[in-house]
Amino acid sequence: MRKRLIVGNWKLHKTASEAVAFVYRLSALAQATDDVEVVLAPPFTALQAAAQAELPAFPFALGAQNLFWEDKGAFTGEVSAPMLKELGCRYVILGHSERRRIFGEQDEGINKKVQAALRHVLRPILCIGETLTEREAGQTDRIVTHQLLRGLEGVAGESLAAVAIAYEPVWAIGTGQAASADQATAVHRTLRKVLAERWNARDAEPVRILYGGSVTPENAGQFLAAPEIDGALVGGACLDPQSFATIITSARARQG
Ligand code: PGA
Repeated sequence: MRKRLIVGNWKLHKTASEAVAFVYRLSALAQATDDVEVVLAPPFTALQAAAQAELPAFPFALGAQNLFWEDKGAFTGEVSAPMLKELGCRYVILGHSERRRIFGEQDEGINKKVQAALRHVLRPILCIGETLTEREAGQTDRIVTHQLLRGLEGVAGESLAAVAIAYEPVWAIGTGQAASADQATAVHRTLRKVLAERWNARDAEPVRILYGGSVTPENAGQFLAAPEIDGALVGGACLDPQSFATIITSARARQG
């Protein structure tokens, strides 16, 4: 049984002091349980403050929103896996569609980042997803399969358990137009099948496949009720402690 994973991707929101206030508020509203793992992914500048604000009553894992694949060197403006590790990060979001679209990231570089994360025992959350044009052209499976296999190229089967995949249709991110649970389920099935074929069913089994794209307190339960959907990557709705706490509760409510 895969432990459900709820990730809050703060994107470019909240200063360090706002992060502290958020963590205290969330800790008061959300309940920690053994069957759901919560990851907070603030901007780099708020990682340490968020970690220090953690209370025993509400443990969470810290995630970064990106990293650079080299450990150190002349790479102005970049942050490396060892730097994130030392701050207490356990996860890192990689290949988010905003990084692909706005910052020109491509599969090859994303793959180097996945490898760097694994090398330093950071768990990559690899984001993949099709555009609306690609979906309408019937290309969804082809696109997500390609992104999945390129993103994970060279990853050994025994390392797969550390990887989470976030299926985020580009057309659903920040638009208020979430995929339906059926649409997400169909893609998640494809992804797990591809993992099992490329590696093997045993290594593919522990990989958590999350849905992301306009997840809200209202629709989270529909996604999290599906056995194929192991959690959610939440953007807009994770910024409000009450909304995020409600989404965490939806993950707990799933039986089985
Ligand atoms: P959204 O963002 O929930 O605001 O659609 C999700 C994401 O980009 O990870």
